[in-house]
Amino acid sequence: MSPWKDVTKLVTAKFGNEDARTLAGYEKLGGYQVLRKALGMKPDDITAEVKASNLRGRGGAGFATGVKWGFVPKDAKAVHLVCNCDESEPGTCKDRELVYWDPHLLIEGMVIAAYALKATHNYIYIRGEMMREYAVLAKAVEEAYGRGYLGKNILGSGFECHLTVHRGAGAYICGEETALLNSLEGKRGQPRLKPPFPAIKGLFDEPTIVNNVETLMNVPFIIDKGGAWFAALGPGRSGGTRTVCVSGHVNKPGVYELPMTITMRQIIDEVCGGVWKGRKVKAVIPGGTSMPPLAEDELDVPSEFDALMTDERIKPVEVAPGKNFDLGGGRVLRTMAGSGGIVVMDDATDIPMAVWRIMKFYAHESCGQCTPCREGTGWLEKVARRVAFGQGKPGDIDLLASIAHGIAGNTICALGDAAAWPMLGFLTKFRADFEAKVAHKGAAA
Ligand SMILES: Cc1cc2nc3c(=O)[nH]c(=O)nc-3n(C[C@H](O)[C@H](O)[C@H](O)COP(=O)(O)O)c2cc1C
Ligand code: SF4
Repeated sequence: MSPWKDVTKLVTAKFGNEDARTLAGYEKLGGYQVLRKALGMKPDDITAEVKASNLRGRGGAGFATGVKWGFVPKDAKAVHLVCNCDESEPGTCKDRELVYWDPHLLIEGMVIAAYALKATHNYIYIRGEMMREYAVLAKAVEEAYGRGYLGKNILGSGFECHLTVHRGAGAYICGEETALLNSLEGKRGQPRLKPPFPAIKGLFDEPTIVNNVETLMNVPFIIDKGGAWFAALGPGRSGGTRTVCVSGHVNKPGVYELPMTITMRQIIDEVCGGVWKGRKVKAVIPGGTSMPPLAEDELDVPSEFDALMTDERIKPVEVAPGKNFDLGGGRVLRTMAGSGGIVVMDDATDIPMAVWRIMKFYAHESCGQCTPCREGTGWLEKVARRVAFGQGKPGDIDLLASIAHGIAGNTICALGDAAAWPMLGFLTKFRADFEAKVAHKGAAA
């Protein structure tokens, strides 16, 4: 049995409990009691508690949640809170499970957050394909309105909070927060130029906080037990637990809530029962396919946000001999915790083929608004395809690196980076696999 089975569980504690999904079941377990407590607090004190908790966004960038909430102008006339439940990053499937098993926890977290932000009209933007989760959420919202947890004068506090569940239409880019806001407004789902950031000018040009499902579900625990308690659950600047979704070549893939001190190797070996078929690890994508991979000798790094980015044990990424992938400010990119989607590839994996498949996704999902991404992702896909299928030309590896360098940091949103970073990471750490494909020109993959 996994030694990690009994670690503290917050957002996944009710997984498997069908009854907890209903309002009556949720209330039986103490549900909405923290909302009562929160409504007795001053809104700014809630934000202060969230700041003290070291809660970092679980949607990809790991930005400090309380700090983000603090950006909303104090004199704003109307503020919105939007929950990002688009979850389309390949390898990521935690939010759908969280919403399915504990929809009222999300609603309770959102009403508390909305109270802190003084946000009246709020939204959950859910990926269109998530029919099952949409039905669960819609029912839970209806129940919450019926019991006075949503609507006017919530629990007699005078606070008014409305929640609309809005379904997306199947575009990955609508998970990017400003494309999501455009889509919510009924416009084409294309990212906006930033600044201004949504906290200043967001939905309908009004200050808006966009947070991931898991981020908001952690809020009731912080208000219940205190920011310091939550901060102590995690290492360094990262409070709480982390929900990861492990897929690929492991014996027990799944969604697991874990302490962030756990290393990537422990996740694979001790939580997921090791690599399947008795094989070894070749590469691990630590946080959705947008993130550069880790090689087998880099797996003793904790799964925490900062460790994955800057841990000294991880070698700097060299794109081509002598050329590092430099993020600026003296930081050399290792990788990032991203969306929590861990993809394990065994030593029989055809790396150039896997990379081509990843590039195909980003080329397809580019919204086409800016040239480096629109053209660059297309070329990455084309060149990666010919390398993967054994028709690579000499110079293709450097060509791929040069296209990726042309995209990274030069686009309106991070989808461009999402294609460039894994390409650069794979080229650096698995260059020999690409060279072998090019050398054996014409060989069937
Ligand atoms: C192309 C792209 C897709 C994204 N998709 C998602 C998504 O599906 N869900 C999500 O929570 N964040 C997604 N993000 C990140 C959001 O833009 C935003 O940073 C996040 O929702 C903020 O929430 P957090 O602070 O709680 O992490 C995406 C970003 C990019 C660039
Ligand atoms: S980076 Fe790509 S997805 Fe993002 S705005 Fe530009 S073209 Fe659109």
